Amino acid sequence: MSWRRYCHDADATVAAGEAFATLLRSGDVVLLTGTLGAGKTTFTKGVARGLGVIERVTSPTFTMVRQHRCHNAQGVTTLHHCDVYRVTSLGEVLDLALGELVEEAGVALVEWGELAASLFGRDVFTVTFTSDDDEGRTLEVGGALATSRTKALDAWAR
Ligand SMILES: Nc1ncnc2c1ncn2[C@@H]1O[C@H](COP(=O)(O)OP(=O)(O)O)[C@@H](O)[C@H]1O
Ligand SMILES: [Mg+2]
Repeated sequence: MSWRRYCHDADATVAAGEAFATLLRSGDVVLLTGTLGAGKTTFTKGVARGLGVIERVTSPTFTMVRQHRCHNAQGVTTLHHCDVYRVTSLGEVLDLALGELVEEAGVALVEWGELAASLFGRDVFTVTFTSDDDEGRTLEVGGALATSRTKALDAWAR
């Protein structure tokens, strides 16, 4: 099962992330897949806005992971924003100990998440970004976690 939403420009992708944030719960892992420039960081900025992150969210390409404190009513205290594009071994991702971090009332968004999917197990959301034209992007949400939030995703998709 999957849910799609078309985003005609970058602002629409931010809005899609903001709306997606409302269905996240503590412990959730979201793997973001799409080529360079597809909109993974842009979407994460929207999720951050939706979770009540105050500081600016930028690409964690070189740091691999950034933590942002959240302010929301859904009990998510921390957004872990990762980019595993530059990892050369899965061990490097394991060293980030994301699983443990996420359990402490956090959620994790992982850019290039498909590269490390085996570490996160089956219980994840996947968001795949496809460029349709210059500015149009189609976002497709799937994964085992998605099948447990179907009602919220029906509302999210458009
Ligand atoms: N519909 C869209 N959604 C997301 N980004 C878009 C869209 N249209 C144009 N863009 C532009 O494409 C770029 C996406 O960059 P970014 O989100 O950093 O991608 P990624 O993290 O996947 O490499 C930004 O410069 C953004 O302004
Ligand atoms: Mg990025």
